[in-house]
This record gives sequence, structure tokens and C-alpha cells, in this order.
Amino acid sequence: MDGHIFIGGGGEGYGTKQGLNLEYANRHGLVAGATGTGKTVTLQIMAEGFSAAGVPVFLSDVKGDLSGLAAAGSEGFKLHEAFTSRAQKIGFDDYSYEKFPVLFWDLFGDQGHPVRTTVSEMGPLLLSRLMDLSEAQEGILNIAFRVADEEGMALLDLKDLQALLVWVGENRADLGLRYGNISTASIGAIQRRLLVLDNQGGTKLFGEPALELSDMMRTDVDGRGMISILAADKLMGSPRLYATFLLWLLSELFEELPEVGDPEKPKLVFFFDEAHLLFDGAPKALVDKVEQVARLIRSKGVGVYFVTQNPADVPDDILGQLGNRVQHALRAFTAKDRKELRMAAETYRENPRFDTEDAIREVGVGEAVTSFLEKKGVPGVVERTLIRPPSSQLGPLEVSERKAVINASPIAEKYETIQDRESAYEILTRRAAEAAKAAEEAEAEEEELEAAEREFRAGRRYSGTRVARSTSKPVSRSTRRSSKDETLGSALGRAVIKELGGTTGRRIVRGILGGLFKSR
Ligand SMILES: Nc1ncnc2c1ncn2[C@@H]1O[C@H](COP(=O)(O)OP(=O)(O)OP(=O)(O)O)[C@@H](O)[C@H]1O
Ligand SMILES: [Mg+2]
Repeated sequence: MDGHIFIGGGGEGYGTKQGLNLEYANRHGLVAGATGTGKTVTLQIMAEGFSAAGVPVFLSDVKGDLSGLAAAGSEGFKLHEAFTSRAQKIGFDDYSYEKFPVLFWDLFGDQGHPVRTTVSEMGPLLLSRLMDLSEAQEGILNIAFRVADEEGMALLDLKDLQALLVWVGENRADLGLRYGNISTASIGAIQRRLLVLDNQGGTKLFGEPALELSDMMRTDVDGRGMISILAADKLMGSPRLYATFLLWLLSELFEELPEVGDPEKPKLVFFFDEAHLLFDGAPKALVDKVEQVARLIRSKGVGVYFVTQNPADVPDDILGQLGNRVQHALRAFTAKDRKELRMAAETYRENPRFDTEDAIREVGVGEAVTSFLEKKGVPGVVERTLIRPPSSQLGPLEVSERKAVINASPIAEKYETIQDRESAYEILTRRAAEAAKAAEEAEAEEEELEAAEREFRAGRRYSGTRVARSTSKPVSRSTRRSSKDETLGSALGRAVIKELGGTTGRRIVRGILGGLFKSR
């Protein structure tokens, strides 16, 4: 199995080793099957195999049962016998229990290192998707990003975005001249969506220090790929946040990593669990982008493996790109099930020993219909494969064990403390304070002047000596009027227009598939 990851045994009596060729592991894959058929264990053994081959792995842990990768399996485990006899059956002679190097990540920062990105890095397209904005609202978000960019205001966290939107609202008359109509109703709607996102825990996702991708692409001292496990149990409560975050991560990988052509093994393997969430109700434009990213990210050495119950959940264009497949059992209760099963079967290269459709229905738990890319990237003939047992612990770590792994991590402490450097919120707050102060001063001046004027008139009437004193501060009426009229909004507005005039159309609408939008 040199240059391959051992997956299990196929052929007569399951005695023929089946492996995933590392050379083609960046040509993506699919792990599918009904509930309870063995998908999670397949994910686990694939992660083990990649790690052992020195390939870093990213995966999301939807049910919390993959943390066991960080501990070795044990002879005392109830399935020890089952595992060893399975290993024997498939000729897995050097089967042994082992633990793997794991990094735990958590958007909420509880069960792992916090994963953060900035609002600018997420970009308007993904944020719109995240907040489920209408086209008109997305348009306004685009304007807000553009103005922030031209103004040199960093958008780091949600409060930056919130402050920016308030400001865009205040200056919508001026900005409207430049960018077209900006309705307060739309701004209000975006602000309300921001609140929802905030309630879902979105606040935790945005800020600095932002994730450095290199931290997800590490190998340990023994050269084994580190397995990044994203806690997704709580995250699944906000499916849109979950799917958008993973999509953002993919787009960042796509943008940041250099081209490597066809490497001898992937730079990173990315498992997208509950992949249907990415496509449920997604607009065609987004699906098209996912399809493009999948196609192009391959040359960056990243293999993407979609994990889902039913391959029919994955759009055809994307399914067609998933070269390495582990199809666990599918049920065929309804006419629709049977149709989908037939279509799933048709995508494999037939094996004369069995009917693919029957096999997909019949395979047992921990068994699958498999096909991996072979020489020249041609799909191998379909096999019925008994998947190998895991070397790491089946089932989750204890809370204390998990804590210990987190504390011993090479990046412990790096992301724990939020750094809030100056960004849009601070800049706008300061500008507003300055404008308010200027307005206040103008008002005070006005009052002083009016008092002087009263005094002057009174003086003229009653006393000559007061006149000289009251005219000691001559201010013309026209100057007074202009400073009085200077409201907060127009002061800011004028300042912006002035500054906008000076900047060229520099524009970094970054983030989601930004590379695609920018250059292709
Ligand atoms: N490769 C394997 N070797 C040994 N046992 C396995 C293997 N795959 C699955 N099993 C057994 O089957 C059980 C169910 O598998 P698993 O949890 O992977 O299913 P699943 O498809 O992920 O289910 P769900 O949809 O509920 O998440 C495991 O707990 C284990 O006992
Ligand atoms: Mg599972």
C-alpha cells in the first residue's frame, strides 16, 4: 500500500487491500450513507491514514464523537474483539492502537482554540449569505464595504459593521449621489439581521487575532499531519453559520495557498461533514462558486471530501468532481429513494462480480461500496469493501482529556485573548465625538455672542462704557450662521466627501471566493 492510505479489504472474502492513492487524494471525495452505516468511523480512519502519511487534516465534529482521534484505542474496549477479527479478515496485519496529533478548534472558544476571522475577510457576499440578506440589502452591504475600504477603516468585528451602517445611514444623502439610492429601511433590516447573527454567536466568530491558515496545516515532530477538529455540535444549531464558516475557510485556502500542480500527496485534506447544509436553499450563484472553488482548489493541493447521508444532496456538477468514494448503505424505501439509489449506482465503473445497485443497498455496517482514482486519475472498478477498524479511540474524549490536549497544544494561548485594535467603530466614535465637540463649541460661541449682543443693545441704550467691552469679540453674522448649521451628520458627510474625492477607486472587497471575483 505504498503511497496509499489503507481503507479496507475488498474482493473475494474481503482479502484484497483497498487504498486511496495519495497522488490523487487532492481530487476530492465523497463519504455517504444512511444514518448508522459507518460514515463517522470511515472519517476517523481516513483522518488517521492521512495524518500518518504526513498530511494535515481538517474536519468538523458534528456529534462530538471524533475527539477520540487524540487517544489510542484500548484492549479493554467492548469492540476490541470485533476490531481485531475485522482486521484479520482484511489482512490488516500491523493493526495496533495509536493516538494522533489533534488540534481542537471551537468558534465559541469553549471546546478548543477560538477560530476567528474579520468582517473584511469574510466579505460582503458571504456575510449576505450568513445573514440571509435580500439583493437590495446585499447591495448596501457592498457600498458599506467599499466606503470603509476607501476611508481606510478596518472592519474587524460586528460592532465595526454596526457602526459603519449607522454612519452610512446618516450620510445616505451624500453617499447616495455617488452609489445610488440607499434606503433606511434596508439599513434597518441589515441591522436587525446583525442582531440575529449576534444572538447565534456570530460575535465570537469576528475579531482578531484572526485564524492563520498555517496553524491548520501543521505537522508534528514525527512528521505526522495534525488533525484539526472543529467542535460543531453547538454550531449545528445555526446551520447557516456552520456552512458559511466552512465555505469561508475553503475560500481562504483557495486564495492564500500557492499553486502546486499535482503534488505527491495533498497539502491538506478538508472534510465537509453535513455537506447538504451548504447546498440547502443556496442560490445558484453560490453553488456555482462552490463548484469553481472545488475545481480550482485541487491545484493548491487541497482535497475536499464531502460527507453526507445521500449523494443526491450534492449538486451534479460537484458530485462529478468527487473522484474518491466511499458509499455506505443507502435505504430504498420509497420510489424516490430507489431512483436516487439507481442514479448513485450509475456513477461507478461496474464490477462483474456484483450489481452496484444491489451492493449499495446490501452492504453492512462498516462496509461500503468504494472506488478510488487509479493511474492517470481514472476511477477504479467499484468494490465491496470492509472498512478497517480505527486505531484511535472510538467515541469522545473525557472533558479533562480534551482540556489536557488543548493546553499542551503548540498554539495554546495564541488565539485565546481578543485584541481590539482601532477599526471602524473606534474611528467613527472618535469622529462623532469630535464633531459633537465642534458643534458644542459653536453653540457655546453662539450663546456667548447672543449674550454680548443683548448686552451691546442694552449698553447702547443705557451706558457708553459697556459698548467697548462687548465689541471686544467681533464675530460676523454669516460666520455664526454656518457654524450653527453644522449638524453632526453633515459635518461627517462633508468630511467623507472631501476624503472620497482624494482616494482613487482602490477596492479590496475581500473574502469569499474573492480571488474568483477579482481575477477570473
Ligand atoms: N470501520 C469500522 N470498523 C469497525 N466498526 C465499525 C466500523 N464502521 C462502523 N462501525 C460500527 O458501527 C457503528 C456506527 O458507525 P458510525 O458511527 O460511523 O455510523 P454513522 O454513519 O456515522 O452514523 P450517524 O449517521 O448516526 O452518525 C460504530 O459505532 C461501530 O460500532
Ligand atoms: Mg456519524
